[in-house]
Amino acid sequence: MKKTAKKTAKKPAVRRTGAPAAARAAAPVSVVILAAGQGKRMRSDLPKVLQPLAGKPLLQHVLDTAAQIEPAALHVVYGHGGDMVRATCTDPALHWALQAEQRGTGHALLQAMPDIPDDHQVLVLYGDVPLLRAETLRELLLLAAGQISLLTVNLADPTGYGRVLRDARGRVRSIVEQKDATAAQRRVREANTGVMVLPAKPLKKWLAALRSDNAQGEYYLTDVIAMAVKAKTRVTPLVAGSESEVQGVNDKLQLAQLEAAFRARLAEEAMRSGATLADPARFDQRGTLKLGRDVFIDANVLFEGVVELGDRVRVGPNCVLRDMTVGADTVIHSNCVLEKSSVGSHCSVGPFARLRPNAQLRDHVHIGNYVEVKNSVVGNGSKANHLTYLGDADVGEKVNVGAGTICCNYDGVNKSRTVIEDGAFIGSGAMLVAPVAVRAGATIGAGSTITKEAPAGKLTLARSRQVTLEGWQRPVKRPR
Ligand code: UD1
Ligand code: CA
Repeated sequence: MKKTAKKTAKKPAVRRTGAPAAARAAAPVSVVILAAGQGKRMRSDLPKVLQPLAGKPLLQHVLDTAAQIEPAALHVVYGHGGDMVRATCTDPALHWALQAEQRGTGHALLQAMPDIPDDHQVLVLYGDVPLLRAETLRELLLLAAGQISLLTVNLADPTGYGRVLRDARGRVRSIVEQKDATAAQRRVREANTGVMVLPAKPLKKWLAALRSDNAQGEYYLTDVIAMAVKAKTRVTPLVAGSESEVQGVNDKLQLAQLEAAFRARLAEEAMRSGATLADPARFDQRGTLKLGRDVFIDANVLFEGVVELGDRVRVGPNCVLRDMTVGADTVIHSNCVLEKSSVGSHCSVGPFARLRPNAQLRDHVHIGNYVEVKNSVVGNGSKANHLTYLGDADVGEKVNVGAGTICCNYDGVNKSRTVIEDGAFIGSGAMLVAPVAVRAGATIGAGSTITKEAPAGKLTLARSRQVTLEGWQRPVKRPR
């Protein structure tokens, strides 16, 4: 719509900066993640920020979220367990700043400042606050608008947190730490999350002016707020919508609580994208899940890595799927463990099936109970329904593999391939000693041990002839 600007010219809809709206970019963002704390209460040899949440280190959650806002630079202030932390988070674009001694959050942030240009805005995050959402960070950056924004949270019990002190008009004036607060200040329930956006240039000045004459003898980043207010810099608060989003992790209990909160968040996402979950509380996603339409996921299913489920896929209870692609209309029955493999459309897998890395099931394939498939291709319409090992096998189309068939792929040193061509029928209990081939349309008699090529279209048997011994007697127990 065209503006009819005549009468309503009092307040411009957008701030005037001279440049047209589209071309006016906000100041570049330097993210600084404070992660130098020790995390004693974890009682673990693993540094706190490397403790896994949903299979991923806490710090990596923060890095991944920060990356979503596409900052100009990402800084990590590290200290305790620094070598391990640096060895785990190996993105070469990361800037690392060592804080050798933990002298407070202000001192920690100061360590990263020499690398940050004056015209940047600094977004402060924490390596042990893993569930912050990128949308919240975007909102915070918008609110800062070149000045300061501060993420706060209203808590029923804010004990231990810094309190956000506002004036009568609701403007933020300062933050006071629990240990420095008066009884009246401790009654304030609005807590500082620690997450904030500040302009780099004055921030450098404020950080340099911090003093440690407080209850903890530390350089508090939080003292910067009162300095900024004094310097007439606007501090815009944003109250977080959920507690778990801003919660830090100090011990294994809180880790489990956040894991549950994260699980619930991902279950909600799955349902919003149309999946039916038999029980959202028993849905575990530790990675990325891409879902088609009308997917059904039964109770106790664990997804790890990158998993893609096509339209109308059904996953039965108690399955583990790790780095899997599953095509449309396939049913995964209960108790399957499927890893780094692909399943086509209209397949039936399990119950109790195992796919090990690089199993490629084409379409309309049936893999039944106690069947293991590894590094093999199983062609369209082929079936292995019971108690079978297909390892290093190339199985053609419409092959029937009888119960108890084994691809003997390993001689103790080498792995060899088994080829089973289209339309072959493998009788039950066959041992296929690789390298070996069963040609198209061949039939293998039950119980055969096949060591040489089985020709196309013929019955091949490799087993000793059945005999019945006359006069043989069962041994009998002698009375004592
Ligand atoms: C800090 C805030 C407090 C806020 C709370 C939210 C200050 C002074 N206080 O309190 O207002 O309510 O977080 O959880 O900022 N860290 C370092 N180096 C240090 C000190 C801390 O890297 O020298 C890191 C820690 O690894 C941790 C984070 O900063 O990730 C917060 O440190 P922590 O000691 O938990 O801060 P609090 O005193 O609890
Ligand atoms: Ca803390």
